Amino acid sequence: MTLIDSLTSALARREAKSSRRRLTVLPQTAVDFSSNDFLSLSTSSAYRDRFLSHLNNTPESFPFASGGSRLLDGNSAYAEELERFVATFHKAPTALLFNSGFDANVGVLSSIPQPGDLILYDELIHASIHEGMRLSRAGRRKMFAHSSSAALRDVLKAEIEADHGIQRGTRNVFIVIESIYSMDGDVAPVKDFIQVVDELLPRGNGYFIVDEAHATGVFGPQGAGVVQQLGVQDRMFIRVHTFGKALASHGAIVLCGPETRDYLINYARSLIYTTALGFPFLASIRTAYELLSSGQTESLQGRVQQLIRHLRQRLDSLRVSPSVMFEIDHFPTSPIVSLRTSQPRQLASACQQDGYVVRAIMPPTIPAGKERVRVCLHAGNTEEQIDGLVRTIQVWLDNHLQNNAKL
Ligand SMILES: Cc1ncc(COP(=O)(O)O)c(C=O)c1O
Repeated sequence: MTLIDSLTSALARREAKSSRRRLTVLPQTAVDFSSNDFLSLSTSSAYRDRFLSHLNNTPESFPFASGGSRLLDGNSAYAEELERFVATFHKAPTALLFNSGFDANVGVLSSIPQPGDLILYDELIHASIHEGMRLSRAGRRKMFAHSSSAALRDVLKAEIEADHGIQRGTRNVFIVIESIYSMDGDVAPVKDFIQVVDELLPRGNGYFIVDEAHATGVFGPQGAGVVQQLGVQDRMFIRVHTFGKALASHGAIVLCGPETRDYLINYARSLIYTTALGFPFLASIRTAYELLSSGQTESLQGRVQQLIRHLRQRLDSLRVSPSVMFEIDHFPTSPIVSLRTSQPRQLASACQQDGYVVRAIMPPTIPAGKERVRVCLHAGNTEEQIDGLVRTIQVWLDNHLQNNAKL
């Protein structure tokens, strides 16, 4: 068997399980109920005008490309000033830019936990965190049930009993969570987790790492995230905010203390061995944070919340026969809604045919049995578009009922 034969048969196996991934390009006219552009900033004229003016107002001699790794020629006063600006906005001591959220999580998880340390992670944590943990020198990592403080308590208790180092405070425990989960859109019970850690690790050797990718721009004061909404920023050892979702840009920032920042500069290989973000990306990140900090995106946050309520109301009025498996999974203030059905591809394709972009989410992205159609709302969506989408879902449900199919 040649290499190409092996690759082809792996793809065929995925095809047979209906889990083969494909790149798709959707028509420009389709209505976006799928992307992570929650504030619709990527098509906002306020964003575009400010970004272009940042680009145009730099001297011609100012290099567009960063020219190298941050540690060699890729650093600039502009990047450092941007880090200070973002750190201040997020009430963090310091900040460090990475080229993506993926790189940030890999950099943090692979380098910070020390040999012998323990990592406890939520079962639905993002793939980039798994990748970082895979490279980590921490000997042990244990999963706990999704967003369950009782499960965290049980796992942590068992580990403390088995390891006197943790009890004495000589080994560290990292608790890794997202503030909003990308697939289910639910908000983590961050304060409950803090309570468990305070109680079980009174020597202060419990460290939170929280990924705010989906909360950035959408939750919290001026879109600063869930952690700041709760006022617990001082309890987080590391916060990761990404710019590729609601901030219409690219890259990510790690918020942490100065020693941790310095350590990452020295040990995070996903920062050291890659070309740093060039000026256009830094300017687009600056643009987004200027809009956030001046309060200009708050009306967009409010608009998203209005649309969430509208969608929920419409979805709740769907007529669903008891013989049909169709469930709505939704955290009340989240722009991400899951429509659970055993035929997500068929439902997604019916919506796409009517011009609404939604995606079927299948294993291995989510656990088997949790297949769903994921609907994301954006400030730029309209009530009419939502009504149209829900009409399409109703027609699909009715057709299935007529066909007497058990979904
Ligand atoms: C929770 C979470 N963390 C990290 C990432 C990676 O961020 P980026 O797209 O900037 O690499 C994503 C999404 O891609 C995500 O959903």
